[in-house]
Amino acid sequence: IHTFGCQMNEADSERMLARLAARGWGVSRDPAEADLILVNTCTIRAKPEQKVFSLLGRLARYKHARPELVIGVGGCMAQQCGQDMLDRADHLDLVFGPSQVDRVPDLVEEVMRHRRPVVSVDLDQPPPRDEAPPLGPRDGVSPVRAMVTVMRGCSNFCAYCVVPFVRGPEVSRPADEVLSEVEARVAAGAREIILLGQNVNTYGRDRAGEIEFADLLTKAGRVPGLWRLRFVTSHPKDMSPELMDRFGRLDNLCPSLHLPVQSGSTRVLEAMGRGYTREGYLSVIERLRHIRPDIAFSADAIVGFPGETEQDFADTLDLIERVRFDSLYSFKYSDRPGVRSAGFANKVSEETMGRRLTILQARQRQITLNRNQALVGRTVEVLVEGPSKRQPTEMTGRTSTNKVVNFEADLEWIGRLATVRIEEAYANSLRGAPAT
Ligand code: 5AD
Ligand code: SF4
Repeated sequence: IHTFGCQMNEADSERMLARLAARGWGVSRDPAEADLILVNTCTIRAKPEQKVFSLLGRLARYKHARPELVIGVGGCMAQQCGQDMLDRADHLDLVFGPSQVDRVPDLVEEVMRHRRPVVSVDLDQPPPRDEAPPLGPRDGVSPVRAMVTVMRGCSNFCAYCVVPFVRGPEVSRPADEVLSEVEARVAAGAREIILLGQNVNTYGRDRAGEIEFADLLTKAGRVPGLWRLRFVTSHPKDMSPELMDRFGRLDNLCPSLHLPVQSGSTRVLEAMGRGYTREGYLSVIERLRHIRPDIAFSADAIVGFPGETEQDFADTLDLIERVRFDSLYSFKYSDRPGVRSAGFANKVSEETMGRRLTILQARQRQITLNRNQALVGRTVEVLVEGPSKRQPTEMTGRTSTNKVVNFEADLEWIGRLATVRIEEAYANSLRGAPAT
C-alpha cells in the first residue's frame, strides 16, 4: 500500500492492511511479487495529485509483466475522479472512496472473480458498522504509536477545502467503540494513542446523547498502560474551555497541539469561512499557554488565498512571530474543483504565492530552529519507536511535544520511555544521548 496525504489516510491504510490480513493477505516488500497494489490518494491540493499519477505510471509495468496483478486506487482523489480514473490510467482494476476502506477485501475479490474493473465511490452508502479492526503486530504498522479514528468526514465547508465533498459530512463513532479500540491497541503494545478526526472538537454532536470530546479524552486517558495521548485535528472555532482545561488535568495528555490557523488576517479568515478572527486565535493560544506553559503548537497556513493582499500576508507573518509555532506546514493556495473559492475573483499569481511561501517558510524555519536549540543541554523523555530510517544504529522517537529525537541505542530500547540529553538541534529533529 502506498499512502499519500494526511493521518486519516494513514489510519485508513492500516485498516485496509488489517482487513486484508484477516482474509489471509500478507505484506510484500517487492511490488514485482505483489498480487495486489493499493494506492491511497490525496486531493487536498493539485501537487499530491500529480504525484499519484506519476506513481500510477510507474506501476503500469508490473501490470504488463503480470496481468493477474490487481491495482486499486483509493482515497480522496479516487472519490473525486471515480470512473475518470480508469480513463486516465487503463491498467487500474479498482477505484474506491474513503468510505469504502472496510469493504476493500470484498472489492478486491470481486475484481478477481469477474476480471473486470470495479468502481465504488458511493458516498451515500452507509459504511459497515465500524467495529475495531483485527489486531496484532502487522508489517509496517508501528506498534508503539497507534491511531484511532473517532470521527469521519467534515461538515465545515471552508471555502478552499475539498474534504467535505470527498469524505462526506461528519460522522462520529460511538464512544464505547472508540474506547474499546483504544484498550485493544494498548493491550497489543501501543503506548501512545492519537485520536483522529478532521475536526475532533465537534466529536459527538452528530450523535444524540453522545459524550463530548473533552470527556472522551478523559476516558481514553484513563486506559491503564497508556502513557501518551494526543489528538488531531482541532478547529480553533471549536476549542471549548472544557477541552482546553484538560491540558491542565490529564497527566498523559501530551503538551502539544496542532491548531491550523490558515491565515493571520481576519479579513482572509472571513473569506475562508473559518469562523474565528486573528484575535480569537491568539487568545486560544494564550489561554492554552497559561494552562500548560510547556505546550508546543503546530499549525497549517495557506498563502495566496484569493484576494490576499501584501497587508494580509504581513498579518500572517506577524502572527507566526507572535505565536512562535514549534512547526508550521504552509502551502500555496490551490484551486480545487467544486469548492467555493474556485469561483472567487482576485486570484493571486503563482509568482506572488511562490514569493510569499518562500518568505514564510524561511522565517518559520528560523523560529523552529531556535525553539529546538533551546532544548540543547536539557534532558527530555523520548518514547522510542524504532530504528532511524537513515541511520539504523540509531533509535528514533518523539518527545511529549512531538519533536523527533535520534540517539545511539540498540533495538531493546523500542517501546521504552528513554531519558535523553539533547546535544544537537536541527530544523526537523534533535540528536542526543541516553542520560544515565
Ligand atoms: N489549497 C491550499 N492548501 C489547502 N489546504 C486545504 N485545502 C487547500 C487548498 N485548496 C491545506 C490547509 C489544511 C491542510 C490540510 O491543507 O492548510 O489545513
Ligand atoms: Fe477542510 Fe475546513 Fe473541514 Fe478542515 S475544517 S477538513 S479545512 S473544510
